[in-house]
Amino acid sequence: MAEKKPQDQINKELREKWDELEFDSQLIRAGEDPYPSTTHSLRVPLYATKSYVYSSLTELLKHHYFYSRTENPTLFALDKKLATLHGGDDAISVASGMAAVHLACSSVLQKRIKRVKPKNLSKYYPQSKPDHIPNFIMHKNQYTGTYRLFTNLYPQIGYKPKIIDMRDLNAVKKAIDEQTKFVFVETPANPTIDVINIQKCAELIHEIGGKCIVDNTFASPALQKPIKLGADLVIESLTKYINGHGDCLGGAIIGPKNELQNIRYF
Ligand SMILES: Cc1ncc(COP(=O)(O)O)c(C=O)c1O
Repeated sequence: MAEKKPQDQINKELREKWDELEFDSQLIRAGEDPYPSTTHSLRVPLYATKSYVYSSLTELLKHHYFYSRTENPTLFALDKKLATLHGGDDAISVASGMAAVHLACSSVLQKRIKRVKPKNLSKYYPQSKPDHIPNFIMHKNQYTGTYRLFTNLYPQIGYKPKIIDMRDLNAVKKAIDEQTKFVFVETPANPTIDVINIQKCAELIHEIGGKCIVDNTFASPALQKPIKLGADLVIESLTKYINGHGDCLGGAIIGPKNELQNIRYF
């Protein structure tokens, strides 16, 4: 009789196949081991905990669950599902779409601020007279919450957008300079349904080493996968189509593993 494979081995082999599944099967299977070793539950349980208990530091390092804002088994399952649906490396799920927008954008922008000694911090945060260097590009008609974050709040801490019609690729090209940290592409835009060319915007910003951040909320990965078009970070308001029922809030950032690791701990 053939020797029975250990469950961990079966799960590992299934995980390696998530990328090859059809989209509908990915929705059901990706991120969810069929028999999690703790409970044998078919679906991943909701881990309603903030903290985790270990017998030693070595045990903690082995398991890596430390504090649920940064790591939680249920959210990791959601992260893996979203990453698979987008064809990305990894994802981070957070409390809302706006949290995802702010976390992705501020983590890219803060790289402009060098690590400084605490006593010098006041020079940088928040600035009473911020240096208004335009350092990212946004579309003139985009979701009002993001619009307000970028035009009201960010200028108070020294970040300033160039607001243009991003459907015009010549305008995007002209707006990009060495200060530009990212282009923010919300397409289709809410509520105008303006459509912006992700691939071309990504090519243009990559020429100067900046990032292309795409808010994919209106399309969802069922209709549009920005990473495949060259985007660096993708944002979803999970509150919308991904949730499907309009009964809870959530947000996510999808992108490369190393970048998301920095964002998770930033
Ligand atoms: C395109 C887009 N991005 C972001 C958000 C913000 O998402 P949330 O409401 O989950 O914070 C919304 C909400 O309507 C949206 O439509």
